[in-house]
Amino acid sequence: MIETVLNIQNLRVSLPTDRGVLHAVRGIDLEIKPGQALCLVGESGCGKSLTAMSIMGLLPRYAKVTTDKFDLVGQDLTQKTQAKLAKMRGRDVAMIFQDPTSALNPTLTIGRQLTEGVMRSEGISRKEAEARAIELLERVGISNPAARLTQYPHGFSGGQRQRIMIASALMGQPRLLIADEPTTALDVTIQAQILQLLGELQSDLGLSMLLITHDLGVVAAIANEVAVMYAGRVAERGPAKDLFADPLHPYTRGLLAAIPVPGMTPRGSELPAIPGRVPGLIGPMAGCAFRDRCALSSPECGHDPVPQFKPGNNRFVECLRAGEAAP
Ligand SMILES: Nc1ncnc2c1ncn2[C@@H]1O[C@H](COP(=O)(O)OP(=O)(O)OP(=O)(O)O)[C@@H](O)[C@H]1O
Ligand SMILES: [Mg+2]
Repeated sequence: MIETVLNIQNLRVSLPTDRGVLHAVRGIDLEIKPGQALCLVGESGCGKSLTAMSIMGLLPRYAKVTTDKFDLVGQDLTQKTQAKLAKMRGRDVAMIFQDPTSALNPTLTIGRQLTEGVMRSEGISRKEAEARAIELLERVGISNPAARLTQYPHGFSGGQRQRIMIASALMGQPRLLIADEPTTALDVTIQAQILQLLGELQSDLGLSMLLITHDLGVVAAIANEVAVMYAGRVAERGPAKDLFADPLHPYTRGLLAAIPVPGMTPRGSELPAIPGRVPGLIGPMAGCAFRDRCALSSPECGHDPVPQFKPGNNRFVECLRAGEAAP
């Protein structure tokens, strides 16, 4: 049994722009154990999708990525060739995206879209691949799946298409499923159904998940672990119930202020607004990126490195004033 499905240390992603180098992900560590769901939360632009894309190897070519450690299912990805990495995608790690309409090809039947990848990667017959597709479509709640393999995406509702995307991601029997805002394009009731499905898949199939969301209700419902990102860094990380019950970073405290009761957060609870704006990520940065918005900040907060604490029980927080109450 492998100990971790994903183990990343010091991941950095930077992108050249007309105005200089944009440091989108600035040295983060993430670990996912088998069967665990890690939720990545944080305001828009803090680097969540780029983190996911770097795990999938789907970053734009001009992005610069460095890591000290990048292990996926016990294999060191920093030592793999591009061809080997391409093979691992779909098989070891698969991803579902926010918008199922753009992720499915409107000109191909569902059957072809689900089966072709695994026929190629595993060398199995169309018949075997179709049998797996039917089983998975059934599992994700598409009725009469055998007949529906011959239909095109436009014959399905938005919620059904997202279910098909989930089935498609599971075709290669991945160890890790990455879901980037998997429900934001859907109606609230459908969102709840898809989330329930993801939760069931996690427990039934022992799937490990990296779930990216703005919705704190989703976090409360599914996550074992939570990592709160801010301006390209992980501000705080820990088991979901501990982090909800006792947030240590002023940013996490701000986010959770609107939802004081762990486990009671209604779905659709968006991250509450915190006064001020996320700083620009272009060019050099020093000290804590949250300090301009933080009620506890002092001049030392502008110094590097920002102190990190590991107060036990797998928790981590990067803040000079971690755990102090706001004045
Ligand atoms: N291809 C790109 N070229 C230049 N900058 C980019 C590119 N992709 C993302 N960025 C920038 O990198 C930063 C992080 O983007 P990312 O998409 O990871 O944010 P996010 O946390 O997923 O946000 P959201 O919640 O809005 O999806 C942002 O400032 C974004 O503008
Ligand atoms: Mg994103």
